[in-house]
Amino acid sequence: MEMIGEARIEASREAVWDALNDPDVLRSSIPGCEEMLRTADNEFTAKVVSKVGPIKARFAGKVTLSNIVPPRSYTLTGEGQGGAAGFVKSDIEVSLEALEQGVTMLRYGVKANIGGKLAQLGSRMIDSAARKAADEFFAVFGSVVAKRAVAAPQAPGAAADPDAAAFMAAVTAPGFSERPEPRSRVAPKSTAESAPRAAAVNDAPSPELMDVWVSQHIKVWIADQIAVVSLNRPDNRNAMTYPMWRAIPGLMRALERNPEVRTIILTGTGEDFCAGADIPEFEKVRADVAQATAYEVAVDACCDAIAGISKPTIAVVKGYCLGGGAHLAMSCDFRYAAASAVFGIPAARLSIIYGVRATQKLCALVGQAQAKRILYSADRFTAPEALRIGFVDHVSGSLGPAVSSSWWAGLWSAADSKVADPMADARTFARKLAANAPLSIAGAKYILTGLSMGPGDLDLQRAEELIAFAAGSEDYREGRKAFAEKRPPGFKGF
Ligand code: COA
Repeated sequence: MEMIGEARIEASREAVWDALNDPDVLRSSIPGCEEMLRTADNEFTAKVVSKVGPIKARFAGKVTLSNIVPPRSYTLTGEGQGGAAGFVKSDIEVSLEALEQGVTMLRYGVKANIGGKLAQLGSRMIDSAARKAADEFFAVFGSVVAKRAVAAPQAPGAAADPDAAAFMAAVTAPGFSERPEPRSRVAPKSTAESAPRAAAVNDAPSPELMDVWVSQHIKVWIADQIAVVSLNRPDNRNAMTYPMWRAIPGLMRALERNPEVRTIILTGTGEDFCAGADIPEFEKVRADVAQATAYEVAVDACCDAIAGISKPTIAVVKGYCLGGGAHLAMSCDFRYAAASAVFGIPAARLSIIYGVRATQKLCALVGQAQAKRILYSADRFTAPEALRIGFVDHVSGSLGPAVSSSWWAGLWSAADSKVADPMADARTFARKLAANAPLSIAGAKYILTGLSMGPGDLDLQRAEELIAFAAGSEDYREGRKAFAEKRPPGFKGF
């Protein structure tokens, strides 16, 4: 019997790893488990009552952990004797991937040998019993781990993962900013290079530290070719400070160069996407005309860097998305919103003129008439309204409070997500984009962005260069070959 599966668990990889090594958690999660005792560092004894079809038996046996790579993976080998019912010997490969802060993907593969009466039941009955047991296990295990994670929260700003700690150590180490640029495998010039450059920040996560980039107010998680960039000031509804605006262009350049990243999701930690610029900070950083001008340059540089990256970007919006937060969302290629998200551009309540670039993006999305209504009235509008006028592309769930995804419902494999979780929907979409040809997406994005910015903004020669480069690329050959061989293409981005 063989089975594979995965489960999204709302806890850090550390917490999931600890639980996977905790006999009490395993005992309470394994269906029918009566006893689980540690007998050595990597060994347990277990007693499990199991019922498969008409056969019910008590299995007693040994569980051994091997190939242990904390906190990423291990092999769990179980051997159990059930008397006349038969025996089971199984190897379960378990791996953990940190998807974003406080979310872990657990993947497993099971290979089992079954003997005795059980074996005579037939593979269909055994497969279905095994699938049911796995579902039950993850339902309980996921909720136990998530509860433990809530009961023992991380200190604010603390790294949630050893990789994060390693990365923090690396980026704060002297000389990190002088680190040579990692070589990119993507030959075309980055479309982000045309964006105004902000003050230098530490960029370029090195491949060996690629899992996570953590700063106090912006967190980045990279897994499965998707980078999740999370604005991280939940107590202030993720309002953007001046240093945050200035940090993002460097971060975008790093993500542009990182060949592990194919799609970028921009979101906010906690309940909100972003309530705009940090207003109290205006007294210090936007107090007079000169400061206000410099501030707007930094905002435009930030948003142009997001809009200019050659990889597809998705804003996942929940809670408030206001003012500068709306500019951030509009700078992404797509906006996935929770049904309860609230939008608005309250510049007219602060006597601020919304910038030219931001207004241009607004008009491109909703047209002049709606742009006037939004800017003149400063009214807030709902996610269904945002969908109706074209401000967002997708609304998850129906009206009512946003449901944060359960670990089970957020499974990546859930093709038909009925859950009101824009992140789960955005991830499904992001994975589809990540599988497509990077050169095609980068080229289309370059041309569309240039065209939408008005006459003269598209560098036709550069567009032709991109088209020619794609036509001579290995990916182009791969696309045709895959079509002929009736298989999905494996694109590399060159
Ligand atoms: N800048 C800095 N802090 C902000 C903020 C912003 N743009 N928006 C919200 N916050 C802070 C609040 O000051 C508050 O902090 P406190 O608990 O230390 O007082 C916290 O976030 C929670 O917000 P609060 O106002 O208490 O929540 P609410 O539900 O009553 O209202 C908003 C939420 C978003 C409607 C309201 O905070 C607001 O209007 N914010 C400003 C939005 C704006 O004008 N943005 C455009 C700026 S250009």
